Amino acid sequence: MRLDKFLVESGLGSRSQVKQLLKKGQVWVNGAAVTSAKTQIDERSDQIVVDGQTLVYEKFVYYLLNKPKGVISATEDDRHKTVLDLLDDTARQKEVFPVGRLDVDTHGLLLLTNNGQLSHAMLSPKRHVAKVYQAQVAGLMDQADVERFAHDFTCQPAQLDILERDEGAKTSLVRITLSEGKFHQVKRMVLVCGKEVTDLQRLSMGPLHLDPSLELGQWRRLTKEEMQS
Ligand code: URA
Repeated sequence: MRLDKFLVESGLGSRSQVKQLLKKGQVWVNGAAVTSAKTQIDERSDQIVVDGQTLVYEKFVYYLLNKPKGVISATEDDRHKTVLDLLDDTARQKEVFPVGRLDVDTHGLLLLTNNGQLSHAMLSPKRHVAKVYQAQVAGLMDQADVERFAHDFTCQPAQLDILERDEGAKTSLVRITLSEGKFHQVKRMVLVCGKEVTDLQRLSMGPLHLDPSLELGQWRRLTKEEMQS
């Protein structure tokens, strides 16, 4: 690939910014300073050093975001802020996209990547990748609802765990585990039980868990262990 493309994709700045780096002789390829942006490199075998730091090419990148409410799970939108707006330049250059969608008013764990195959695998109903949500519900959820989640829906069985019930306020805090992710699935299942979701947070997706150190709107790259899992 072209050296300037490699540098931009490595997060060193825009095309014109990396041109400046090259001009100043700050970029070295296999031990020699290189100034031409058009230089062709082999990103898998050539050693690219910028300001003494060796760059490692990443074909695929993975971002774990604590999605806030009010931001849509899309890569572009004319009216709303998107989850892509919350990430860094590298994410946009690498053209990451959300692995599945969370509703605009849902918050919590969202994985973004440019690895289409992985995204497909995590979303495929055949793979049974569990998605765990915590929901605040208007209405008292009960054992009949637990049974309904386990058997009555046309989707794959889902697990409903009732964490708290406030008899006075008539509200419940529940955990819901799904292996499918149809449109508004949690909200619709709760609605079928005659109750309403008032707050929805995704806690995990397969082996990935919401990182408690991430504030709403913050992200980090996946760790090596998470990538492995
Ligand atoms: N189910 C929903 O209803 N909304 C979400 O955002 C995710 C799952």
